[in-house]
Amino acid sequence: MSTETLQIVGRGVDRVEGRAKVTGRANYAADNFEKSLVHAVGVYSTVASARIAGIDDEEARRAPGVRAVLHHGNIPKLFRSPNEMDDNTRVSEVRTPFEDERVYYAGQFVALVVAETFEEARWASRLVKVRYTDEQRPAVSVAESERANGQRVHSETPDYRRGDAAQAWSGAPVRIDATYSTPVEVHNPLELHASVAKWNGDKLEIHESTQWVVGQQRALAKVLGVPEENVTVLAPFIGGGFGGKLFLWPHTILAAVAAREVKRPVKLVVERQRMFTTVGHRPATRQRLRVAADAAGKLVALEHETISQTSLVHDFLESSGQTSKALYRCANVTVTHRLVSGNVGTPTPMRAPGAASGLIALEGAMDELAEAAKVDPIEFRLRNLADADEEKKRPWSGNHARPCCEIVRERFGWTRRKAEPGSMREGAEVIGWGFALASWSSEREEAEARAEFRADGRLRIVCATQDIGTGTYTVIAQVAAEVSQLPLERVEVAIGRSDFPQGPISGGSMATSSVTPAVIDATKKAIEKLVETAGKKGGPLAGQAPDALEYRAGAVISKSDGRSASIAEVVNAARLASVDGEAKAKPGEERKKYSFREFGAHAVEVRWDPGLAKLRVARVVSAFDVGRVINEKTAKNQIYGSLIMGLGMALMERSVYDARTGHVVTDNLADYLVPVHADVPEMDVTFLNIPDEHMGGFGTRGIGEIGITGIGGAMVNAVYHATGKRLRDLPVTIEALLG
Ligand code: MOS
Repeated sequence: MSTETLQIVGRGVDRVEGRAKVTGRANYAADNFEKSLVHAVGVYSTVASARIAGIDDEEARRAPGVRAVLHHGNIPKLFRSPNEMDDNTRVSEVRTPFEDERVYYAGQFVALVVAETFEEARWASRLVKVRYTDEQRPAVSVAESERANGQRVHSETPDYRRGDAAQAWSGAPVRIDATYSTPVEVHNPLELHASVAKWNGDKLEIHESTQWVVGQQRALAKVLGVPEENVTVLAPFIGGGFGGKLFLWPHTILAAVAAREVKRPVKLVVERQRMFTTVGHRPATRQRLRVAADAAGKLVALEHETISQTSLVHDFLESSGQTSKALYRCANVTVTHRLVSGNVGTPTPMRAPGAASGLIALEGAMDELAEAAKVDPIEFRLRNLADADEEKKRPWSGNHARPCCEIVRERFGWTRRKAEPGSMREGAEVIGWGFALASWSSEREEAEARAEFRADGRLRIVCATQDIGTGTYTVIAQVAAEVSQLPLERVEVAIGRSDFPQGPISGGSMATSSVTPAVIDATKKAIEKLVETAGKKGGPLAGQAPDALEYRAGAVISKSDGRSASIAEVVNAARLASVDGEAKAKPGEERKKYSFREFGAHAVEVRWDPGLAKLRVARVVSAFDVGRVINEKTAKNQIYGSLIMGLGMALMERSVYDARTGHVVTDNLADYLVPVHADVPEMDVTFLNIPDEHMGGFGTRGIGEIGITGIGGAMVNAVYHATGKRLRDLPVTIEALLG
């Protein structure tokens, strides 16, 4: 389909589910009050490294309203999930809840109390007495984790080498050797993790706040040891995920088990405090960058070593070096990753996992190198951008990073920048301008969808994907409206149920690029079917062969005599509820021919007032090469959100652990700082809007994650340009600037 003829795809239409959200009709997991519902509240470990010697639940069991107390001593048999991405059984923690009597981190579930009311469950949870033994001093920092448990290679992330980076680095005229560190950060979606589990005989129905209804269904079935078809996961609305809700966590399993035990529906909401311990975080990293350039300002060596912290129960790696393999043209590249385990909850993907933390370090080091080489930071990038993917040895499916840099340079007014740090001032404020590239992989996975032309004349699209707030409802509706030439109001979208045709995960920025090709094909098939049905015996255009008929904007029309029949007429004449088309769309050979990535660039202005010790980000100018944008409004919404989240990463967010007890001391939204409206800068965002002709569908890539890649680096670079202080331990705080 050519761009010129598109009617609805590309328009910034309002969210189709917006009204349901603002009127409170949208049903989120914790909004489900099943008849005879009981409530579950967790008991969480008060120590970070120990063995449970015994649990005394007598008093809790006798407390008013209590129906069950579950723990290691009495949990029914559970099974480990195979934990494979390919068969949709990936979980957040391979260890099942209460599997052993060990405590691996503070805030780990050690028991679960179920009672008639939430208040009764909470009260009784305080009465459960857990006796700990073998208590050890926990290892909570990266350094202590390494000291206590050593470094390990992550089984899925081999070392990468091309050329000889160490040698090239040693012999180069301009060299940087810099170590950056990033802290534990927490997703903190506004909607808490929540599960409402209900068994009907041996069938489980569970309302979940999840980014992957299909994965949640498969993994939960494996863990519970029941057939997949016995588990239905419902998630029509999700209040943000950012990676924290991709895979199964212990609370969901516990809700399902508790409901089976007490034979009542069970609700379990993870309170905000526990969102800092038991449902994942972005792990802390330490990253050493050794980069070097020749006399002409060309990159000749790049070494990126990452140490990423994980828990003692599951290996998750923040692959910070992933982007360093392919973003720049460079003959000598080494990228390594090591894991260190500590007494912290299990980390998990968080918005642009690897790239967000990695590009702070990489783009920081590039800024340092550009300065050492006396080349303007944008000019330095333009000289060194990769023309092809040198890691995969393939051409790009499309790489418009250069125009992104040029647009940002132009719109920001970069040419007025003075190179000397601290040399740009306005009144009491020192101005700093920083730059960084953005990049994220453009994945796509197999997806199915069904399109139903219904007896009421409407088109309904059905798919087991979900909308985590990103606009999936709206883009599916736009794509179906485009193909069917129906007004948007006549398209319905049904998603968020695992028993619908299998749809994609809302993760890795791949939901839109995966689901829309299936929606296009399913709608086309439904159209074919509608045309065929119209000409059948008893149909409104009976006797006309399908090729004598054509579909146009909600009607089947005879090419010979011009007679036409509406969708409703065709479907009703056939005495059907709907005429359907189903399709499966998957990526193909193009994935072996090309390398797929999104690209972008950011320039940032910070203002530092040394007298008041006030640092703020004044403006951000970004441009992105993300393929075709289906909805300008929801797309910008994603980018604004991720730029703001990047601001949090650069200047505010950090989970602080007490080194003695292993407790998270910033386990609330007062102590864990996130940007608020007053912190949000002016944001100028441009989409190149060049369709990626190899992606399939309308040529869309992803949008959810690229905004947070690079932005933290641009901010840290801007702080350096203002203050002359190269701060490499994130977040950059006022205290560090004053120190
Ligand atoms: Mo994303 S971290 O795959 O939700």
